Formats: sequence, C-alpha cells, structure tokens
Amino acid sequence: MSKYVIRPNGPLKGRVKIDGAKNAALPILAATLMTSGEFTLEYVPNISDIHVMTQILNSIGVETEHHEDKVSLLVPEQTKTEIPYCLAKNIRASNLFLGALLVRNKKVSVPLPGGCNIGSRPMDLHLKGFQAMGAEVSLSQGSVVVERGNLVGAKIYLDFPSVGATENIMMAACAAEGQTVIENAAKEPEIVDLANFLNAMGAKVIGAGTDLIKIKGFAEFNPVNYAVIPDRIEAGTFMIAAAITRGEVILENVISTHLQPLIAKLTEMGVEIIEEEGSLKVIGKDSVMSTIVKTLPYPGFPTDLQSPMMALLSLAGGTSTIVENVFENRLSLADELKRMGASITIEGHTAIIEGVSGLKGAAVRALDLRAGAALILAGLIAEGKTEILEANHIERGYYGIDEKLNKLGAIVEKLKE
Ligand code: UD1
Repeated sequence: MSKYVIRPNGPLKGRVKIDGAKNAALPILAATLMTSGEFTLEYVPNISDIHVMTQILNSIGVETEHHEDKVSLLVPEQTKTEIPYCLAKNIRASNLFLGALLVRNKKVSVPLPGGCNIGSRPMDLHLKGFQAMGAEVSLSQGSVVVERGNLVGAKIYLDFPSVGATENIMMAACAAEGQTVIENAAKEPEIVDLANFLNAMGAKVIGAGTDLIKIKGFAEFNPVNYAVIPDRIEAGTFMIAAAITRGEVILENVISTHLQPLIAKLTEMGVEIIEEEGSLKVIGKDSVMSTIVKTLPYPGFPTDLQSPMMALLSLAGGTSTIVENVFENRLSLADELKRMGASITIEGHTAIIEGVSGLKGAAVRALDLRAGAALILAGLIAEGKTEILEANHIERGYYGIDEKLNKLGAIVEKLKE
C-alpha cells in the first residue's frame, strides 16, 4: 500500500500534459481480441488498471509490451476464453472481455468483476444485449458464462445509457448477422473512441456519440495502430486543482468539447477558463461561488468528477448541492472531507455543502479512485499535513499525479504505508 503526504504550497502554476483516457484505452485493449495480429496503441496511460488489463490479456495468450504510453500487442489466432478471477477481481472493465471474446468464440466466461466500491454495479443491461442477439447467459462458480450459436442482429433498448453495456454490445454485435441497433446508448467520448477503433479495424459502426448506434455485423477485421483520446477526467481533476489553489495552469493534450460540462460549471463558479486548440488555461480566483451539480450520463456532469468537485465546493462561498444520479455510494467522500473541516450533510443521493473558509490537514482514506484524487486536491489547500492512506486506488487512474502536481509547485510525497 502507498500513501500520499501533502503540504500546502500556494497556487499551482505552469503546464501539465494530460495522458490518454483510461476509460477509452480499457475497452480498446479488450477489443484487440476481435482479430489476430500486431497492434500498436499510443497514448495508453501507464496506470495500474491498464497493467491489470494487459496482465489479463497475457493470461489468455496475448503478448504485450507497455513502454511509456505505447502498448504493442500480438494477438494469436486463438486465445483462451476464460478470464482468471485473481486478475478480474481487481478491475470492473474486465467485463468488457465478454463482448470482445464473443466475436471469435462460441463460449466465453468472465468472473463477476471488481473495481471501485462505488455502489451496486450490475451487468443486467450487458447480458440483456447478448441475449437479444441470441446468446445464452448463465452464472457458474461466480463467473458469467455466455454461449452462442449464430448471433443475430437485434434492436436493444438500454433502460439506462450504461457505458460498459453499450461497449460490450457494440463489440458483440460485430459478430451478429445483419444490423444491431442500440437505443438509449451511452454517448460518452470513450464510446466514440471505441467505435472509431472498431471502424479502423474494419467494423461498420455508425452513430456513436448519439443515443442511437447501428452496427452491421460480419465485417472482416484487421489489426491497426491507434492513438487513444486524452483523458477528460484527469484533465478535469487538474482544472479543479488549479481552481482550488487559485493557481494558473495550462493543460496540454485536451479536447475541450469533452470538458464542456465542467468548463460551464467552473465558469459559473467564477473560475476563468481560456480555451485554445488542444489546450486549456485555467485561472483560479480568490473565491469561488456555490453551485448545484447533478451528475448525469454524458453530456451531463460526469460522476467521475463529482468527488474532485466536492472538494472545491467545500471551500465555495455559500451553500452548494451535489446530486449523484449515477453511482449511489459516491458521496461517502463527504466523511473524509469532514475530517478535514468541511461542512457536508448527506440526504439520500444529495450532498448539501456549506462552504467553509479553510480546510485542515488530517489522516484520511482514499475510498476509491476519484475520492482519492479529491483528497489530494483538498490537501493542496488544507492547513498543515494531509496524509492519504490506501492511496493505491489513486494509481489505478492517474499516472504520476504526485510528480505532475509537484512540477506545478505542489508538495506531494508518495510513501509506503
Ligand atoms: C464507466 C466508467 C466509470 C464511470 C461510469 C459512468 C469505464 C471503465 N468506467 O463505468 O469510470 O464512472 O462509466 O460514467 O469506462 N447499470 C445497470 N445495469 C448494467 C450496467 C450499469 O443498472 O448492466 C447502472 C450502474 O449501476 C450505474 C449506471 O448504470 O448506476 C452507470 O454505469 P455504467 O455506465 O455501466 O458504468 P461503467 O461502464 O461500469
């Protein structure tokens, strides 16, 4: 286990380069299993979730080499079709192997996945999609087993625009005869990136980025070289870091349209944001105004930035409200922030935050990946020393966050717990 020790050191200043998107790289890595041959993926973040994903690929026969932000893969003609529990338990995205493996195999098995403890994360929509295309789904020894004869294209309505279900169905539909239509599909930029990757391999996916995605099955696939989009959640975290420290930070390698929900909210709160092509300048002000944040599927406010936002709102003037509509346990960060002096009341899925004039350093726990990042941000401005325990969660999603922040003038030390 690692821990972070943070001491306040004034406003952050300088430039930071954002890595490739974790949530785009994960499904793209799984999707390489849809064909065989050599792939090169660029802008893959060097984070532990990606390491687990490549270890899973290795365990079923794929050779991988991860050097800095480049991953080379050699996918054999045949891979194993059962994902080992010891690896899958570490990462929710292991469920994406179902859709990818189903393209070339008749029977696949993936353990019910792990990942962040942020509320119930069922797979009913993923499975409903496979079943609609004619597959049979069962549970055996803690694993989801999907068996298929010939898959047939279907019209699949998602009760909720689930990111993972949209991705899994999009991949499996590439092996279905005729056309599959996903209605109420997730519209996240990472869905578009996966669709672009699939199309580069030879798939016929149209409509990604809207709530209606159409997939024509039975395409021929070829391995490709591909560059992953920038990580809007890492970018958002650094934007909030600049705002909370009243700093001035330029973010490089960003797509600002992906960040509009956050840009709009921060601007409303009084933070100045200057958009340039491929970069964003964030200028924090002496005070930020309170606001209402409601998390929603894209293009709504991302649940993954709700925690960093809670840290910032703890210091806003007046009363703010956060309504968490995507993952119910994601408000438990409030208890950790309260240990640092924040004033937060939780009522169901809503957090009511009375802005305070300052936070005080404390020993706190990174309950999940984004909560951990939020606590780092709180630590940047809190008086005295903040110690974040169980910080391994943070490394699941942020590469070198300590070094990147320190280059901007912060004092963040990573130590063994
Ligand atoms: C992905 C992201 C995660 C992000 C989330 C929402 C990856 C690897 N992770 O997670 O960082 O926070 O999108 O933007 O991309 N649901 C069901 N049934 C299902 C599937 C989901 O009810 O079959 C519910 C979940 O419980 C949750 C909501 O749908 O309440 C959103 O989940 P989903 O969009 O599937 O999130 P993930 O793909 O797991």
